Amino acid sequence: MIQVKPNIAAMTAYTAVWKNLDRRKYLRLDLNENTQPLPEHVNAALKRLIEEQSLQMYPSYEHFLPKLGQYTNTELDHLVITNGSDQAIHIILTAFLGQGDTLLIAEPEFPIFSLSAQINGANIRKVPYNEDMSFPFAQFCDAIGDDTKLIVIINPNNPTGTLVSIEQIEIILAENPDIPVIVDEAYFEFTGITSQPLLAKFPNLIIIRTFSKAFAMAGLRLGYILASAEITSQLYKIRAPFDVNCCALAAAEAQIDHPAEWQAYVREVMAVSKPMLESFFDQHDVSYYLGAANFMLVRSKQRDEVVRHLREHGILVRPMLATAIQDTFRLGIGTALETQRFIDVFQRFQHQKVI
Ligand SMILES: Cc1ncc(COP(=O)(O)O)c(C=O)c1O
Repeated sequence: MIQVKPNIAAMTAYTAVWKNLDRRKYLRLDLNENTQPLPEHVNAALKRLIEEQSLQMYPSYEHFLPKLGQYTNTELDHLVITNGSDQAIHIILTAFLGQGDTLLIAEPEFPIFSLSAQINGANIRKVPYNEDMSFPFAQFCDAIGDDTKLIVIINPNNPTGTLVSIEQIEIILAENPDIPVIVDEAYFEFTGITSQPLLAKFPNLIIIRTFSKAFAMAGLRLGYILASAEITSQLYKIRAPFDVNCCALAAAEAQIDHPAEWQAYVREVMAVSKPMLESFFDQHDVSYYLGAANFMLVRSKQRDEVVRHLREHGILVRPMLATAIQDTFRLGIGTALETQRFIDVFQRFQHQKVI
């Protein structure tokens, strides 16, 4: 009988929440994506790739890397581009984790870290977030042991939305100089908060980011890693030479060169839509966690009914499955118009329940 390795056999595959659902027909507040289409100038850049007959060639990265270096203010040997930040996670974990090693992470967390740790045969130690979903700093530090080979901090965390302070990250880096520490900044463009200045001081710091969120490129798959040259040179051995496709590069370059539209979107989400939602929830006694990015966790005793009601009215949100947050859904935040639409539909559910 053909058998995979025992650690793979023991895994459960990642399953999408929605099956057989055409997400294009919905207001998609379920995966923390940018809700808007790519700007026309990005579409034009993609069309040019076809017209110039570039798609039959393997991609090359010499042109794009300096562009990303400029955007991130980083030397090129401190950068690795990846096929989405999911691949960044997998490459880093593959480099540092083997059979019996332990990865430390606070839960509930973004699931790809655990999946990749299992693929690499590693153990996962999870420290629960505090009840108010703040980062459990003391418990997290206490959980670092001799077997800890990699520390993960998601900042802000998905799904809780909460931040870890840069001071706390600095303490973790300083106290564990021999343990690599990943700081996942997938939502950097929304928060403006980064550990990047710590890179110069701490060679154990590895930052990952993505073009899937603010840049509206989730379908194109582009992420990147910022780390010391010692680390990036090792990671390049694992990423295959052509893993990042040329469409992702063309779109990312267009977004970096012409940031007005995605930046306006980020401003609207953070300065208009988010306060709108918070004041609506406050006025209607709906409990939620104060997230730092373009999504929030909302609690409801009738969580499944709310999620169904929203879906029946054309809006997708993400019901959470982790034990501590089983009565919540994660709500992505889009434009002010979309937020008003969510509020109207959500309110209809509340009224139905009162009547
Ligand atoms: C915290 C975090 N990290 C990484 C990712 C993966 O993003 P991608 O693989 O699309 O770059 C996500 C996506 O939701 C995320 O929330």
